Amino acid sequence: MKALVLAGGSGTRLRPITHTSAKQLVPVANKPVLFYGLEAIAEAGIHDVGIVVGETHAEIEAAVGDGSRFGLRVTYLRQEAPLGLAHAVLIARDYLGEDDFVMYLGDNFIVGGISDLVSSFEQDRPTARIMLTRVADPAQFGVAELDRNGRVVGLEEKPEVPKSDLALVGVFLFTAAAHEAVVELKPSWRGELEITDALQWLIDEGHRVEATVISGYWKDTGNVTDMLEANRLVLESVESRLDGEVDAASDLIGRVVVEEGASVTRSRIVGPVIVGAGTRVSNSYVGPFTSIGANCAIIDSEVEYSIILPKASISGARRIEASLIGHYAEVTPAPDTPKAHRLVLGDHSKVQISS
Ligand code: DAU
Repeated sequence: MKALVLAGGSGTRLRPITHTSAKQLVPVANKPVLFYGLEAIAEAGIHDVGIVVGETHAEIEAAVGDGSRFGLRVTYLRQEAPLGLAHAVLIARDYLGEDDFVMYLGDNFIVGGISDLVSSFEQDRPTARIMLTRVADPAQFGVAELDRNGRVVGLEEKPEVPKSDLALVGVFLFTAAAHEAVVELKPSWRGELEITDALQWLIDEGHRVEATVISGYWKDTGNVTDMLEANRLVLESVESRLDGEVDAASDLIGRVVVEEGASVTRSRIVGPVIVGAGTRVSNSYVGPFTSIGANCAIIDSEVEYSIILPKASISGARRIEASLIGHYAEVTPAPDTPKAHRLVLGDHSKVQISS
């Protein structure tokens, strides 16, 4: 069994955070989303991983390297453009050979690993096994229709009128028969070779496509709300660790990690919280479910339930909540007069201003 990890694409929904960087590297509890997937793959006993990369390939390669630190042998597969999940399978043909494979979307966050899924697939070996979960907004996903016996009868990608509330989760298991399907596909209305069409082709050709409905925790971290929730979930089980400096005028309450070289002065931190290496927190309050990356500065501010990426600085901000703050971002107070907002916003920015 091999793994095919998809880390290409363009990540428009996390703009502007991912204008310049790979969305699979946005950190959850200060660790890239992609690493959780690679760890789950290694834990399932898989060693050979092909990572599909696109325009952000240099960044992904710098972060993952040859994979040895995860116990994996990584091969990078270059996709010239994000032409679809099934297109990624198409370009991986030679790499995958005749092996069974698990396809794992690099921006998906799945709690509990994939070991059980992989071992049950290896015993049973249907042509494909998909994972489904009930969602409130199925039109945002691939949607499956099951018959009365729980067999998959139809699949549609982001349908306007979904036939069920069962969304495709970003882990798929295939035998090599998947390659017969992907060569038959035509681009969809959005110009992509869709994995839903490949699965539908297999069903129509009489292949066994099975589905497992999972009720566990899963997030497609393509949007900020899901990122914050995944971050909350990982922080739920963080253990306290104090490798940096905390002065006597500060209070750490609950589970707080202060990494090496970080300093906390005249501040109150209510965990679970991670303060990244080299970060300075001064005269501030940091509330639950906040991950602060390395080399940030939080000065005279309040931050809660947020993800702050490395080298960002927040100073004099009354209170920041449910926010994702990018690398090198600077948040400062507006001067008192005149009472107006002064904004320099990148394309597609979304800002909520309290009036
Ligand atoms: O998250 C689950 C959903 O993932 C499924 O319900 C959908 O059926 C499936 O199509 C997919 O939908 P998304 O719109 O969320 O896919 P996205 O474009 O975000 O791509 C998922 C991952 O695959 C992401 O890490 C980028 C990567 N990718 C994507 C495309 C289209 C590639 O590496 N190459 C590609 O061509």
